[in-house]
Parts: sequence; structure tokens; C-alpha cells
Amino acid sequence: MTAQPAVQMSPVNSSSSETFKLRDASSYDCVADKFDLFTERLTQPLANRMVALAQLQPGQRVLDVGTGTGIVALAAAQRVGSAGMVTGIDLSDGMLATARANVARAGLANCDFRKMDAEALEVGNQSLDVVLSLFALLHLPDPLAALREMFRTLRPGGRLVLAVGSGAPLLSWNGLVHRLCCLPDLLFTAQRRQLSAPGFLNDLVKKRLPQTDVAEESELAHHRAIRTRSVATLVRRAGFSVLGTYWEGHQTMVKTPEEFWEIQRTFSSIARKRIAGAAPEKVNLLREEFLQECREVQTRNGRLVYPFAAFFVVAARD
Ligand SMILES: C[S@@+](CC[C@H](N)C(=O)[O-])C[C@H]1O[C@@H](n2cnc3c(N)ncnc32)[C@H](O)[C@@H]1O
Repeated sequence: MTAQPAVQMSPVNSSSSETFKLRDASSYDCVADKFDLFTERLTQPLANRMVALAQLQPGQRVLDVGTGTGIVALAAAQRVGSAGMVTGIDLSDGMLATARANVARAGLANCDFRKMDAEALEVGNQSLDVVLSLFALLHLPDPLAALREMFRTLRPGGRLVLAVGSGAPLLSWNGLVHRLCCLPDLLFTAQRRQLSAPGFLNDLVKKRLPQTDVAEESELAHHRAIRTRSVATLVRRAGFSVLGTYWEGHQTMVKTPEEFWEIQRTFSSIARKRIAGAAPEKVNLLREEFLQECREVQTRNGRLVYPFAAFFVVAARD
């Protein structure tokens, strides 16, 4: 047996945890359409990778936790066919409404969406073949409770594939190659010819919009440097055997400052939550400042970069 590194997570207070969940869900309600548009463009390769890692078979019962607008659920429903069933769960009414519209448009009868908390699944013991979860774990105040729920609902031999947004693991071949490929980014940034998401908007937001007393990110989200190790450790602690871990990263150059603003204010949890709670005139000033800086970078022949990456954990309930 290998020793598992400790993952320090503070005890979760239930009233602050409920407030955190409500605020997280409502911050998505008003950006669901934009989220859908951008996730189709930016997340699709990672959703496809998740479904491939799950090795889905026709007839399987699948749960997609933190489904958002259903990008993973829809891809999974195509794989399990009409004898299978995929349920996507989420706490945001706006995201669920968009997911339901997407499944209706796709004409899939084997996929539905339900409002449900990942930490308290209303699903029977050992009733699922596969649990999937893309980019949701870092939104949960008690990720270990959610992982234990996933374990409880999977049948023995069932498979979990989850992914969190993360930089490349430090000590990995992938990570080394990725860091070498990023060397030009350092040069461009030093020459003030590159702005990168989500740091650029987050830094501006932190300067210009006040923080409320509700946490903006979960404790696990703060484990930036050791996030990959923390996530794999939590998966084991929930009872799973980890079969493999994988990292995949991409970046895209965004053409216009306006689109760069929309992508970041939609995907960055810190920016989305502070903007949702701020006065419109403050948001307009912030947006103007953001656009102005982007235009200055573009006049120096610079670039607006949106990196997106996922660390996947594939695990089984023995
Ligand atoms: C970053 S989005 C990812 C959505 C989708 N999986 C994707 O990759 O496009 C995170 C999602 O998790 C949902 N979420 C956050 N906390 C949740 C909870 N406690 N239970 C269920 N869903 C939750 C959010 O509402 C949001 O839709």
C-alpha cells in the first residue's frame, strides 16, 4: 500500500455551505446561454475525452454530476444508445433549462436533467454503471461528501471519470512539454503583448469590485499548486481505486476584446460572482477598462489568450 498524502480540508459549516451553493448556482443562471455557446467551442474536446475514458457501452446507466448545459451528458447519451439512460444533475435552474433545450433539439429520448445537489444524490445505492463529472468538483464546499455519494450510487465494477480545471501536473512529461511550449507566452507577457485568461480579468475585478463575505471559491479550488494530487487523494479516500490520471491542455487566441470579456466573465467563478452582485455602472466602468487594455495590447501586435485544460481521474468501485 502506498501512503496517501494528507489533503487538509477544513470542516464544512452547513449554513455557509448552503449559502455558497446558492450563490454558485445563481451566478450561472444569468450566463447560461453564453456558457452554452462558449462551452461548445472550448470544452467539447475535453468532454469527448471524458466520454472516451469512460468506455461507455450500449445500455449503461450514467450520471453526469454538475452537468451545466449538458455537454457531457449529450455526448454520453449518444454512446449508451436507446437502451441506456443518462441523467445530468445541477443546482442552477438556468443551466438546467438550457440543457433541456439542448436535449430536445438533439432529439434524444435517453437523456434527462434534474435539479439535485452533488453532495446529496437522490439516486439509489449501486444503481449506476458510470458517473461522469467535468469541471464541477471545485465548485463543491465538501468534495469528499460528493465523491462518497458517487461511490455509493455506483455498482461494484462501476467507473468514475471526473475532471477538474488545472495546470499540468508538476512532475510529468506532459507538464514539462507544456511548460516548454509556454515559454513564448512569458516573453509576450513581459513585452506587454499578451493578456491571459482568467488572471487578467480576475486581477481587475479584485481591484475594482468589492468582495462580499461569502467565499467565492471552494477550499479545494485554492489548492492550485497541488490540486492534481489533492483530487486523486480525495477520490481514493472516498473508496475508489484510481485506474489512471491524464492531463490535456489547449489554448485559443481570442479575436476581439469584447469576446475576451464575455468568455472570462462567463467562465471565471470569481469574476462571474462579483459581477453578478455589482452595480451596473461599476460593471460598465470595469468593462471599459478591460476593453481598453486589450485594445492597447492589440495595437502592439499582441494577443488575447484563453487557456483551457483538464486533469482527469479515472477510477473504479471494486
Ligand atoms: C464549470 S460548470 C461545468 C458544467 C459542465 N460540466 C461543463 O463542463 O460544461 C460547473 C457546474 O456545476 C454546477 N454545480 C455547482 N455546485 C453544484 C452542486 N452542489 N450540485 C450540483 N451541481 C453543482 C454548477 O451549477 C455548474 O453548472
